[in-house]
Amino acid sequence: MQTNEKDAQGGRDIRVAVIPVAGKGTRWKPITRSVPKELLPVWRRTSASYAFEEAVTAGFDEIIFVISPDKLGVFEHFLRFDASDLSAHFIDQSWADLHERVKIRACIQEQQLGLGHAILCAEQDVNGRPFAVLLPDEVLMQNGLKTLVSKTPAVLLMEVPFEQRANYGIVKCEKLPSGDLRIDDLVEKPAPELAPSSYAITGRYTFTPEIFDHLRNLPPGHHGEIQLTDAMKTYTQIHSITGVLFDGTRHDVGQPMGLLTASLDFALRDPQYKDAVRDYVKKLIAAQ
Ligand code: G1P
Repeated sequence: MQTNEKDAQGGRDIRVAVIPVAGKGTRWKPITRSVPKELLPVWRRTSASYAFEEAVTAGFDEIIFVISPDKLGVFEHFLRFDASDLSAHFIDQSWADLHERVKIRACIQEQQLGLGHAILCAEQDVNGRPFAVLLPDEVLMQNGLKTLVSKTPAVLLMEVPFEQRANYGIVKCEKLPSGDLRIDDLVEKPAPELAPSSYAITGRYTFTPEIFDHLRNLPPGHHGEIQLTDAMKTYTQIHSITGVLFDGTRHDVGQPMGLLTASLDFALRDPQYKDAVRDYVKKLIAAQ
């Protein structure tokens, strides 16, 4: 079902974002036996709140969290996360206003069968509209999602070193005169020497609802999981996906190093603490 004519014409009026938060958090065990990784702190907020903020500031007013039955706390966190929390933490009144307008929902992924499966769980709530996907393990210091919206369907890309190609979905692509890339094919976590390029998918996507046709009945792919990248492979043959290069700073907070660099980055921008943090870091380095 289409919500309006504009949606049917390629997703310009795109308002709904899906944030999957059902993962098992294997890399963060044993912490994740009791605390979902999405609630680990990055500086003064939870790691997943940055993806949420990115969606809201990009103009999205409906956020669907895909949660697992044992991670209801993540959804609760967002239900309770309100404008007064924000004013205590920082920044921008316009974002606090936007937050008031946002509708938050959750859908349950009963079994953790992969990212593609998680997105498929949101099909009913997306309800035939174009939508975005944000993976909250990626904290971007500039709004990457915003750059995709007018190009839907689109994906945010970054160049990665040879040995890191096996950690990402990698695209085969052609440069367009606009500087964006036309995606011809995709492969999930290839061996570096088999990767079709050095352009990796970061965790920001926009789709038309037809992506669900490519997710349904998809066989398990890499790591025995239902992969979003595999669905994009057949989808892009029909609905050309634009690759947009991200040239900002990205922290992978799914990794200890990323959690630290993201926290430092925010700390050094925090008017209340930046001087103290800078002094402490300088002292630490001097003592090496
Ligand atoms: C997922 C996607 C992968 C993408 C990556 C970005 O992998 O499957 O294509 O490059 O996110 O972070 P994950 O890191 O969840 O294994």
